[in-house]
Amino acid sequence: MNPHDSVIHPSWLRLTHWINVVAVVLMLMSGLRIFNASPIWGFRVPEKITLGDWLGGALQWHFAAMWLLAVNGLLYLVLNLATGRFRSKLLPITPRSLLHDARAALTGHLAHDNLREYNALQRAAYLFIVLDLIVLVMSGLVLWKSVQFPLLRELMAGYEGARRVHFIAMGLLVAFVVGHVVMALLVPKTLLAMIRGR
Ligand code: HEM
Repeated sequence: MNPHDSVIHPSWLRLTHWINVVAVVLMLMSGLRIFNASPIWGFRVPEKITLGDWLGGALQWHFAAMWLLAVNGLLYLVLNLATGRFRSKLLPITPRSLLHDARAALTGHLAHDNLREYNALQRAAYLFIVLDLIVLVMSGLVLWKSVQFPLLRELMAGYEGARRVHFIAMGLLVAFVVGHVVMALLVPKTLLAMIRGR
C-alpha cells in the first residue's frame, strides 16, 4: 500500500475534533451573552457575536452545548489515553525542542513534511488547550452547581473567583483558536488531513 494512503488521523479523532468545534462556538457565543447580563470587567461584547437573544435563552444554549462539549471531550480523552495516542503524539516536549521549533517558526524554517508528527510547538499548544478546556469545565461546574462543589469553589477563591477563572480560560481559548486556525489555513494539507483522514 502507498504510505500516503494510510490514515493520518483516525475517524474518531476527526469526529470528536469537529464536534468540539461546534460545541466550542455555541458555548462561546452563548457565554458572551451571559457575560453581558452581568459583566465583571466593566465592558460588554457586541450583541451581534452572541447567541440566545436574552439571558434565559443564552443559558439554555450554554447548558445544552455543555453536554455536547463534556461528553465529546471525555470520549476524546478516554480514547486518546486508552490507545496510547496521547503519549505517542503529544509527548515528549522538552525545553530544547520547544526552543528549537520556536526559533525555526520565527525564521520561517518550521517544516511540515510529516503530517503524522506534531512539532514541539503544536504538542505544547494541544496539551495546553486540553488543560485549558478542563479548567473551563471545572470552573463552569462551580458556576452551575456552586453548593455541590465546595472544594472546587474554594480552590477558585469562591464563586466570583470562579467567574474570573472561567472568563480568563475562555480568553486563552480564543487566543489559541485564532492562532490554530491561522496555522491550519497557512498549511492547508493539515486541514485536508483533519477532514479526510489522509
Ligand atoms: C474552524 C476551526 C478549526 C480548524 C480549522 C482546526 C483545524 C485543525 C487541524 C488542521 C488540525 C491538525 C493539525 C495538524 O495535523 O498539523 C487540528 C488539530 C487539533 N485541534 Fe483544531 N481546528 C479548529 C478548531 C479547534 C478548536 C476550537 C479546538 C479546541 C478548543 C481545537 C483543538 C485541536 C486539537 C487539540 C488538535 C490536536 C488533536 C490531536 O491530535 O489529538 N481545534 N485542528
